[in-house]
Parts: sequence; C-alpha cells; structure tokens
Amino acid sequence: MPIKKPAAKEAPKVPAAPAKKAPQPIGLVRGMKDILPADQPIWEMMRAKARELSTSYCFERIDTPILEETALFIRGVGKQTDIVEKELYSFLTAGGENVTLRPEGTAPVMRSYIHHGMFNLPQPVKLWYMGPMLRHERPQHGRYRQFQTWGCEVLGEDDAVVDAQLMLVSYLFLKELGIEATVQVNSLGTPEARTNYKNALVSYFRTKRSKLSEDDKKRLLKNPLRLLDSKDPAVVEMKAEAPQIVDWLDEESKAHFMRVLEYLDELGVPYQLNPYLVRGLDYYTKTVFELYGNTTDTELAQSALGGGGRYDGLAELLGGRPTPAAGFGIGLDRVFSLLKESSTAQPLTQDVFVAQLGDQGRKRALAVFEELRKAGITAGEAFAKESIKGQMEIANRKQAKFAVIIGQKEVLDGTAIIRDMDAGTQEIVDVRKVVHEIQKKLGRV
Ligand code: HAM
Repeated sequence: MPIKKPAAKEAPKVPAAPAKKAPQPIGLVRGMKDILPADQPIWEMMRAKARELSTSYCFERIDTPILEETALFIRGVGKQTDIVEKELYSFLTAGGENVTLRPEGTAPVMRSYIHHGMFNLPQPVKLWYMGPMLRHERPQHGRYRQFQTWGCEVLGEDDAVVDAQLMLVSYLFLKELGIEATVQVNSLGTPEARTNYKNALVSYFRTKRSKLSEDDKKRLLKNPLRLLDSKDPAVVEMKAEAPQIVDWLDEESKAHFMRVLEYLDELGVPYQLNPYLVRGLDYYTKTVFELYGNTTDTELAQSALGGGGRYDGLAELLGGRPTPAAGFGIGLDRVFSLLKESSTAQPLTQDVFVAQLGDQGRKRALAVFEELRKAGITAGEAFAKESIKGQMEIANRKQAKFAVIIGQKEVLDGTAIIRDMDAGTQEIVDVRKVVHEIQKKLGRV
C-alpha cells in the first residue's frame, strides 16, 4: 500500500508582527552644540593661550562644580537680572536641595574663596578657570544655552591697577589670537551712586513712558539700568538725552575711574568710554568693561566677546567679610566663530603611522608603536586592519609624514621599512633603531 505522504501541514497563521518602527535618531538639545574633532585645533589654540596668559600673569587655576545652590546666584547675580529671572537651569534634587547649573563663574569663585578661608592667604588671591556655563537663553548666532568661558578673578585688592591689568589680559588674549578688539569701559560707582542714578533715569524715562514697548515698561519698573541696553530705536534715541552715570559718581569712584583710564593709556590698551554700559549682572561696582571684536560678521560685532568689572560688594552678599575684587569672563564660543573665519590652524597631524602585515608583523608593530609613543612621537595606527593598502590610505588621510612598515620578512630580518610619505621613498632600518631614525628625520635629535 502506497504510503500516503502526510499532507503538508499548513503553518499556523501567526498574526503579522506589528511593523517595527525604526527608532528616531536622537538630536541635540536646543541651544547645545558638539565641538567636533575638526574644530578642536582652534579650541586647543584658545585653551593654550588662556592657560599661557593666566600663568604668566600669576593666576592659579580653580575648578568649581557645575552644580551650586540656587541661592548663590539669586544673591550673587541678582534677583532682578535676566539671568536669574529667566535663564537659570534650576531643579530640586531627590534630596530636596534647590540647585542650579552654573550660569557664570564669578559667584562660584567667590563662594569658594569664602568657604575655604582664602582671605587668610596673602592678598590678592588670583584665580582662573575654564569650562561650561549654562543659561536658558533664546539660542541664536553666537548665543548658546551651554557655552564655554575662560575667566580670571583677582580677590582681595581694590586698587585701580587691577582693573586695568584685567582689561589688558583679556585684550591681549584676543590680540595674540589675531583678533583686533576694542574695550568699552564705564564706571557704575558705589551702590548708593547707582541708586541715585537709577532714580534720575526713572524720572527721565517716565516722562516718555508712552513711547516705550511693553518689555521696556517692565524694565523701567524692575531694572531701569537695562533700558540703556535696549536695541529699540525709539529708546536708543531717548538715550541720547538721558542722564549719564558719570555725572552721578561719588568722588572716590570718579578718582578710581580716572586712575583706571590712566593705566589703560600707559599699557596701550585701546578703549572707548561707553556711558551706557551697565552689564547684565547686579554685582558690579565701579569699573565695568566689555570687549568687542572688529569683524564683518555684523551679529558677532554686536555681541561682546568678553566682559567683566569690579564687584567689591559680592563677598558680603554671599556672607563673607568685605573683600574688594574684580575679574573678567571671555566667551570662547564667540571667539571661536571669529577665529574660524580666518584661522590658519591645521588639523592635528601625525608624525608617523605604524603599519603591519601578518600576525608576527602586527605583534612587532605593537611594540614599536609603544616605543614611539614613549619617545613623545605622535603615531597613528590601524592594528585591526589587514591590508597594507588600506593602512596606507589612512596614513595619507591623517597626513602622516612617515610610515613604519613591518611585515613577516622584516620580523625575520629584525628590520622595519621607513617610508617618507611625501617623497614616496623608503629605506630599511634595524628595528631597534626605528625611534632614533624617526627622531632624526623629524629633526628632534
Ligand atoms: P557675562 O558678560 O555674562 O559675564 O559673560 C561673559 C562672556 O560669556 C560674554 O561676554 C559672552 O562672550 C559669553 N556669553 C555669555 N552668554 C553667552 C551665551 N548664551 N552664548 C555664548 N556666549 C555667551 C560673566 O559671566 C561674568 N562672570 C564675567 C566676570 C568675571 N565679571 C567679573 N568677573
């Protein structure tokens, strides 16, 4: 009897799996940016210049945490400022602490000075820092929600020479990076002088209230000095007739300001007096300044590359003993944009590329790579690759000056091939002499 083939069982009908949605790529948080490898040479140039100037002007490095108690900025920067009113990244931690991602570096440095009793050290204490700050601002060209700053602070000295020297250091930073900048300078006097001036300003703008925008009306009530920053053409016109702070300065502030200007003349720092410069932070007393780059980029030309001033009252606001102080902060992202326009900074290149062929060749090449690295020679490699052609392509892309090639034959002979990547010539050397030969070719011995 023929055996009947069992009828092929129909596969049970499985309901089609819902089409899997490919996950969406995750983008950048608004206002943030990556600093990619191609841009790192310019960043490194800025950081190196900041380190060099800080050290040569006898500043010592300080790193404060990115997270501080929110009260530090409310008291330090000021309740009525844009930074505190609108721009803080603040949150409650699981432990119930009210903390803020730092929007600026001066209040944290002063907190640290008080906390660690730095007033017991010889004064002044000169500190510098570099790192990210966070402000929830409206992002635009040259304005980010996380930006990098370099700052220098001089704590425990009230002499005008400090103010002028800080302006010099910030000016030189830009100049030595190839940016011609102008320093705008003003004096805000003592808090009393400022209050009297504010009253005069309010009286003046009240008479013109109907011409003010809603925002500027609010400023008139809350922080009238900010009206002087207004870009509204009507306010710009009104400003011309407005009272100027110089006429309200107390004698001591006036004398201090005159001395700052004399020192600036002496040091050859080009400056412009700007009677409307008030800055966006409340802690300033006496001198304030901002630096602007000469650039064809109109938006960047109007954005300060850096700013600073004297803040003699900040220590007391933060619960410390009276401590006169002054400093500046430079916005490195803005400086980067200017340098990028004109920079000759080259991508990082490698002195030598170590290429290998075969298992024995790879093992010997690993050892040679370590010797080169220990000798301070920047070497590239692609040890996971097998083809010499592929490795040479990488060496070319990285603009390596020389390649050291080790294959099976070289392992047996105890040699290595050194190839001059530009000339296309190559020679065979004793493998024990590779480091010395490369150093010779690079002119380092
Ligand atoms: P600031 O003027 O608020 O001053 O900031 C310093 C610099 O940081 C500005 O001149 C600007 O170049 C840069 N900057 C500010 N906000 C942004 C942003 N959203 N995006 C890109 N860059 C920005 C201070 O923070 C004071 N702590 C400076 C100081 C130090 N005063 C005395 N000592």
